[in-house]
Amino acid sequence: MRGLSGLWPEVNFPFTLAPMVGLSHVVLREVVRDYLPTDAKTIWPTEMLNSRRLPYQDMGKTPETLISSRDELLIPQILGNEESFIKKSLIKLEELKIRGLDINMGCPVQKALKHNYGVALMGDPTYAQSIVKMTCAATDLPVSVKLRVGLHKDEKDFLSFCEGLVKAGASLLTLHPRTAAQKRRGSADWNQITLLKNHFQTPIIGNGDVQTYKDALRMREETGCDGVMIGRAMTVRPWIFWQLGEELGLKPPKGLEERKAPRDPYEEAKEYGKVVKRYSELCFQYFGPVLALRKIKFFLRVSSPWLNFGHSMTKHLGKCKELNEFVDVSQHFFENEGLCLNEYTALTY
Ligand SMILES: Cc1cc2nc3c(=O)[nH]c(=O)nc-3n(C[C@H](O)[C@H](O)[C@H](O)COP(=O)(O)O)c2cc1C
Repeated sequence: MRGLSGLWPEVNFPFTLAPMVGLSHVVLREVVRDYLPTDAKTIWPTEMLNSRRLPYQDMGKTPETLISSRDELLIPQILGNEESFIKKSLIKLEELKIRGLDINMGCPVQKALKHNYGVALMGDPTYAQSIVKMTCAATDLPVSVKLRVGLHKDEKDFLSFCEGLVKAGASLLTLHPRTAAQKRRGSADWNQITLLKNHFQTPIIGNGDVQTYKDALRMREETGCDGVMIGRAMTVRPWIFWQLGEELGLKPPKGLEERKAPRDPYEEAKEYGKVVKRYSELCFQYFGPVLALRKIKFFLRVSSPWLNFGHSMTKHLGKCKELNEFVDVSQHFFENEGLCLNEYTALTY
């Protein structure tokens, strides 16, 4: 593979899960990894980690830093804007054998704008560069930045902002091509990914609105990006990696050698039932019952827009409190005929 293997030689699969608060924790990584083609290697995110809190936390003990024995090539994402906290966070994170660090310059929430972190940094190019510079000075690991197209759309400013990051030492840029004001509304403008790719030698990961494996392949084809990052769709269709593996002629995921990846909407609905069961079991195992319930409900909420049975599923699963109830319902509910996953949906979360 072009760009990413230059940073991590073992990476040979140019598709990756997106960092998402409340979702891209150990459990979703495990579920997605179940569908990773055998021998395929990619990079993995964490949830966004707050650099002001990390230095005082026990790594591998908080829900956001829990890892499994299969976790590898972890590139945690941090939110931060102060040298001392970033340095201390790096020391802590190195306990998790991380392979890089991603700086969040895309978070558009009001709090981030007020405290000059996340996407707010895109309004302050000099400061943003200094953060990258100080982070690179504190580690030999590759430092990446995940960003948007800016606070407002202005191609010249955007390119000059990115040039500053690269000059400061960023080895990878991941672009979610929406403005800050758009949050996750409207559509991601993939032309901006092409713009970056054509302008820089630095590897570029494209992100935004990939709902199916076909979209992932199309994003690569149309933009020439070095990697495709998938967020929300991974909550409903974590087997996109399996489908991509089939398209690329890779070996099936371990344990799935006898099967083909689900393709039609009915097969996909059945597979989603298996995912809900596995996700629930792992949430109880890793997070304990109270947090597990919150995490499962959030996962169902983000994935439900694709389901033609969203309401009825929420009615059934929404009442569950214990793991055996989730397992029972996900086993029986998904035997119903006529359940299907829509290929595309209006992305509402
Ligand atoms: C629930 C949720 C939480 C998110 N949290 C983060 C985050 O912590 N850091 C980040 O860089 N992006 C975050 N994002 C944005 C995603 O990484 C991604 O850029 C965005 O969802 C567009 O990709 P998609 O269309 O594939 O979902 C979040 C998105 C969602 C839906």
